[in-house]
Amino acid sequence: MHWLNRRGRCLAALATVALSLPLLPATVSQAAIAAPEPTTSAPYALVPQPVSQEAVKGKGFTLTAQTRITVLSKDAAAMGVGTYLARQLAPATGYSYRVATAPRAITRTVVLDPNGPEGLGAEGYTLVSGEEGVVVRAHGAEGLFRGVQTLRQLLPAAVESPTRQAGPWTVAPVRISDSPRYPYRGAMLDVARRFYPVEQVKRFIDQAATYKINTLHLHLTDDQGWRIAIDEIPSLTQVGASTQSGFTGGQGWYYSAADYKEIIAHAKSRFITVVPEIDGPGHTMAALASVPELNCDDKAKPPYSGFEVGISLYCLEDERHTANMSRFLSTVIKAVAELTPGPYIHLGGDETPQATSDQYAAYVKAATSETTAREKTVMGWHQLGQASIPSGSIMQFWGEEDDRESIGTAEETESIRFVRNGVAQGARFVMSPSDHAYLDMKYDVSTPYGLSWSGYVPVRRSYEWDPETSTAKPDGTGSIVPAQQIAGVEAALWADRAYEGSNALPTPATRWPEPSAYTDYMSFPRLPALAEVGWTPRSARDWKSFRQRLAQHGPRWTAAGIDYHPAPGVPWPGTVTVVEGPHSVETEGKALDNPGGSTRAGTALVMWAPNRGSNQTWTFTRQSDGLHTMTNKTSGMCADAGDGSGPVGTAVVQRPCTGEIGQRWKVTPLDDGEYTIASAASGFVLTAASATDGAKVTQQVDTGAALQRWSLE
Ligand code: ACM
Repeated sequence: MHWLNRRGRCLAALATVALSLPLLPATVSQAAIAAPEPTTSAPYALVPQPVSQEAVKGKGFTLTAQTRITVLSKDAAAMGVGTYLARQLAPATGYSYRVATAPRAITRTVVLDPNGPEGLGAEGYTLVSGEEGVVVRAHGAEGLFRGVQTLRQLLPAAVESPTRQAGPWTVAPVRISDSPRYPYRGAMLDVARRFYPVEQVKRFIDQAATYKINTLHLHLTDDQGWRIAIDEIPSLTQVGASTQSGFTGGQGWYYSAADYKEIIAHAKSRFITVVPEIDGPGHTMAALASVPELNCDDKAKPPYSGFEVGISLYCLEDERHTANMSRFLSTVIKAVAELTPGPYIHLGGDETPQATSDQYAAYVKAATSETTAREKTVMGWHQLGQASIPSGSIMQFWGEEDDRESIGTAEETESIRFVRNGVAQGARFVMSPSDHAYLDMKYDVSTPYGLSWSGYVPVRRSYEWDPETSTAKPDGTGSIVPAQQIAGVEAALWADRAYEGSNALPTPATRWPEPSAYTDYMSFPRLPALAEVGWTPRSARDWKSFRQRLAQHGPRWTAAGIDYHPAPGVPWPGTVTVVEGPHSVETEGKALDNPGGSTRAGTALVMWAPNRGSNQTWTFTRQSDGLHTMTNKTSGMCADAGDGSGPVGTAVVQRPCTGEIGQRWKVTPLDDGEYTIASAASGFVLTAASATDGAKVTQQVDTGAALQRWSLE
């Protein structure tokens, strides 16, 4: 489908309110809960990182069989959050908590209070835990639910297990005040190319909810399948749902109205809004195979199970067929709108190379007028901006580096022009830049699934970007979308190539994982990274902190049965770090660089802004003595420290690889996932002179300085 793109706010007042706990019985220990003694660090491995958290001295609160969950409201939604928490805790702890609406117990209590102040918004919450209890407070049930996700993460990883585990179940003592940066934090499943049974969609909803995702975008239609039953057009599921990418002859590869309602109800119970996508006017082969009059020759196309992109278009060549398209969309959108309680209908609009602008406009007019007639907000890929769209529509940006590089030049890309048109029409934006937020991009060359047309997306790349600069020049200036028009972020898990060996087309011997296994591998750990981009203020985000927190989630996923990918660059507990292979060697935001891609022996290495170019790519090769050589990809030469006879401060250069001692480096992992790299010749460590472009790289005594701590990306 992607061929067009080839190649710390002030919370003091609220905290005070939260800590006064007026609805708690006075006998609850004030020392434990009401007056925690803050420490300065942000100690717990929470993802997304809360806006503010302070450790509290003391032991924390230990759940026992006698613990109560008390909801300070009879509101059904708030009670539902209490029940949800009880059910989450039950399998691993073995405790079956009843949820009470009145604080019968005065200690040993988990209090969920939906009567908190409005100031943190519908999704904000405060959480205070101390030796005698935990209080989660929010303005309504939704904020309580988000706070309960934080509470889960304050318990040991084993609490995520579906079977009984040994305790103790101690909630870390902490005081948190939190609310999201963006109101839209989405995840997309491509159920069109690969059909996800209802149970697997629900499983993904549960996973996403853990990270405070609040929107599930279902890509329900594409060339390879139509996945939602429309009563008035039964052929859409009889024919259009019989294929998937790589599979034909299926039955029931769609959601009946009852299935769809079940998904929506499950999502609602997790405070997640479902956004249905009916893609068009391209990506429509399944519709063209099901409804003859959508084709110019009035003949149905054969059902499609292949892997091409940009192969289909509703017939928009004459009035009769344009009217057929309008009637078809009217029926479909009416039915989908009636089944969908959420405010959005996603109308696709991507990848329609064959359409003239008039034809495209005719599609957008038909689709948007039906959507607004049903009182839904129009959503679409950013290409929708080329046409006239209702003000307040949401455009989903999926551009990449090429687009950002074109901003302000004489040759801005189509995508940038369409975004500009959308901004001018008052659209809001959900950012899904494909080079950061597309979960079907491979992590690296070894990823068995997915594609890499937008480059590899290692964990760090899924984390280190910002919505406010995703439509800005590469230096972060000149954003074409004003910050106030950004609604949020979405992680998109396409299923173009959801099989092993995905660089080539599948063969009969190809192994296809269950959709849930594909999802686990591609989303974990990158979905939590994107969730934090959407939730946490930019000022509270930091890769080094994130990767350490993220690493602690590995055992949680293992306990929960999520078959995650322990991707490089994250210090997963219990994993042996393998440094073998190509890396960008970075410290303090700069990369070890062979300047100008020199092929000269003796060129001194420098630091430069990371660019993932081959002159910054160093292949680590383990030698029989456990030391490593580092070979530059451009020059084929090795990083060389000399024979060790030089003084402290001797420059590191490149020389033809000989295997001599000056080219052997001792690579030592540190607790935080970084490394020291010491010369076997001198014993001194690789050291950047500063974090400026062109800074020298020398050997120095290891002082623990930041410029001697390297990450291997
Ligand atoms: C897209 O990736 N075609 C939205």
